[in-house]
Order: sequence, then structure tokens, then C-alpha cells
Amino acid sequence: MTPSTRQRRGRRKPKPSLRILITAGPTREYVDPVRYLSNESSGKMGFALAERAARAGHEVTLVAGPVHQPTPSGVERIDVVSARDMYRAARDAFREAQALFMCAAVADWRPARKRVGKWRKKEQGSEVASLELVRNTDILASLGRRKGSRLVVGFALETGNGVTRALEKMRRKNADYIVLNDETALGADRSSVTILGRDGQRRSLENRSKAVLASALVRLAEKHFA
Ligand code: C5P
Repeated sequence: MTPSTRQRRGRRKPKPSLRILITAGPTREYVDPVRYLSNESSGKMGFALAERAARAGHEVTLVAGPVHQPTPSGVERIDVVSARDMYRAARDAFREAQALFMCAAVADWRPARKRVGKWRKKEQGSEVASLELVRNTDILASLGRRKGSRLVVGFALETGNGVTRALEKMRRKNADYIVLNDETALGADRSSVTILGRDGQRRSLENRSKAVLASALVRLAEKHFA
């Protein structure tokens, strides 16, 4: 075998570069100018995924809620605050995307109105106060409905054995995969996940770094489009 033949036979088919949209972090739903409803999401999983996907040569748009994470090299980052902002940014970027990883911990509810001035104690006049909430759009479900040939991956944080609930979410939100994890993933550098596929696939990855989990998810997208 000549060196050139060996080279040709050994050469791998180049991987196609994918346009990948990732959402990460929490959203903030303001009650007044200084108070908000939010959650503990650090954005680490979504940022690790963006970093690995860009490093693998994909075109990455990262829609990020308020987090303290550096932007991975080569990633287009769009910062948002509320679920409504995230919905608008994700919906626009989804048009050009081939794959969506919906890692963000989107608030399900927002205050029915944001007070213009600070909500003062004296306005309440009793030991009980109430806040009217309205439901935010489910971004994953909304984009899932019009996904066409795109790959759509959602995340589900469940306490206890959440497989049944995660499978139900996958169907309801029309996702191809759901990555199931539990509350120990919040803010952590490592996580245990079960990747559930619409095709019945079930793969558990125990106590892995988020970078390793991110690589597995990037490979999942690459295989899907291979
Ligand atoms: O129903 P649940 O919030 O557990 O579903 C989690 C999945 O749905 C995550 O992928 C999350 O990003 C997405 N989600 C969303 N919009 C919401 C709530 C959740 O896209 N308003």
C-alpha cells in the first residue's frame, strides 16, 4: 500500500458543521425594579455544551439568562433576562438552527405586572401578601411544534424517579430527546443524567463532569445528522 492510499483510506469523512442553538441559565421575572423570581440554575451545562460544540467546529448561538459564565470561544452569545426575552431570542435563532438544546431553567410563571416603583411594606398593611402570576410560554413546546427536521433536545430536572414524567414531557413538548437529571445538578460541575430518546433509547451517564456530558450530547447531534 502506498502512503497516499493509506492516507486516503484512513481519512475520515469530514463532519458536517451544524448550526446549534443552546439556551442556558435561569430567567428573572421582575416583581418591581429591584426584586424578581428566579431559580438556582448556574448555566454550567449549557455553557459546557456551547464550548464543546464550538470546539467540535459547529456554529453555536447561546441564548443565556443572567449567569456569571465567560463566553466560550467562537460562540455567539445573546444575553436575556426574562422568559419572554428568551422566547423572542430563541424563536428568532431557531429559524436558522438545525439543532436546539433547551438547557435553560425557564421560569414557568411571571408576575402579572411589574410594579413601576418599589413594592412597599405599608401598601400591604397585613402579615399576608399575594402576588398574581401568569404562565410564561413554554419555549420548548412552542418551538417543538414547528421543529420540522430539526433535532430538539429538552432537559428535565425531576426529584425522585422522574423517568415517567420526563417521557411525558418529551411527548408533550415534541422533543426528540430529554436529558433527565435531578436537583444535585444545580450549580454542580458534575451530574448524573439519563438521556431518553423518542425512539425508546435510554442511556445513563453517572457522575460525569458537565464537559464529558456535553461531549456526549454533541456526538448525539452529530450522529443524528450523519
Ligand atoms: O416542564 P419543565 O419545566 O420541567 O420542562 C423542562 C424543559 O422545558 C427544559 O428543557 C426547559 O428549558 C423547557 N422549558 C421551556 N419553557 C418553559 C419551561 C420549560 O422551554 N416555560
